[in-house]
Amino acid sequence: METKILGTDKESIELAGRILAQGGLVAFPTETVYGLGGSAFNPESVRNIYEAKGRPSDNPLIVHIAALDTLPELAEDISDKAKALIHAFMPGPFTIILKKSGLIPDEVTAGMDTVAIRFPVNETAQKLIKAAGVPIAAPSANLSGKPSPTRAKHVIDDMTGRIPAIIDGGGCAVGVESTIVDASEEIPVLLRPGGITYEMIADVVPDAVIDPHILQSLTDGEKPPCPGMKYKHYSPDAEVTVIEGSMKAVKEEIDKKLKENADKICGVLTMSDNAYDSAVILHGGMTNKEYAKNLFDCLRKFDELGVEIVYAEFENRDGYGLAIKNRLYKSAAHRVIYV
Ligand code: TXA
Ligand code: MG
Repeated sequence: METKILGTDKESIELAGRILAQGGLVAFPTETVYGLGGSAFNPESVRNIYEAKGRPSDNPLIVHIAALDTLPELAEDISDKAKALIHAFMPGPFTIILKKSGLIPDEVTAGMDTVAIRFPVNETAQKLIKAAGVPIAAPSANLSGKPSPTRAKHVIDDMTGRIPAIIDGGGCAVGVESTIVDASEEIPVLLRPGGITYEMIADVVPDAVIDPHILQSLTDGEKPPCPGMKYKHYSPDAEVTVIEGSMKAVKEEIDKKLKENADKICGVLTMSDNAYDSAVILHGGMTNKEYAKNLFDCLRKFDELGVEIVYAEFENRDGYGLAIKNRLYKSAAHRVIYV
């Protein structure tokens, strides 16, 4: 299949909207990561999304909307706490899980009785959803298991030949996937940390809790609260180890590791101005926010550069740290050294 690379001009959005309305797939930018969209009302489109990504079909998709007035037809029994979260964080890098309505095909929710809904703030995403005239089911636009795409190049690398169109909207502002809160039961549960921090959520619904799996791997046979948790994620080809602590101690530990692995091509992902000899250094950023934005791009670059082992510096500096930790730990398959 030929894959068209489109811009964000009016004609391009109209063309992409027609492709979606006719059941085709379009990759598009959002403020978090690029999405791989198809009509949420078309089961065939949704099946094609799973196929294009190589994604297991028991892992449900997020439904993207461009106006809050579409919510009542997609979800039922929206509680006051859910309403408060919607009011506070939508549009934005935030996904809410609600009881699903009968209009949502089972293919979207992988048979669950809840649906994940997101209203992106990115202007191109909003225009595209409006042009399509239907809600858009979209996972991140990477091949299953690869780091999520935060630039059009990443999507082009993963999806060329697999889908009809990719909209190039430049780099994503947040760089990690949306914060997910399950508000379908009495106590709201943070299932995936992102640009909307736990502190921000607790300001709106003080009884909200953090699911412990955010920082732990699942034990054998354990059923995850969010199907996505059980899959290997964000994993570059390189073997990643997180070195966590104060930047001075982190530097000492990484220097030691680099010496031990002098026969390998090593890389260091930094969040400091630490310098390292004989390693490929990529700088994530000095703040947690910058680091989150650059994280997936850096992980993909290490692979392009043929790096075999990556040491990722990490220091928790603010509420954004949880989102980075969650992605870093997963990409490291929970190999973490605390110093
Ligand atoms: O920022 C984002 O959320 C991006 C952009 C494109 O919007 N999308 C994204 O989708 O990250 P995806 O498919 O890569 O991640 C969706 C996660 C999965 O872990 C899935 O298991 C979970 O949301 N999920 C979807 N529906 C759910 C539901 N009803 N209950 C629990 N978890 C759900
Ligand atoms: Mg994903």
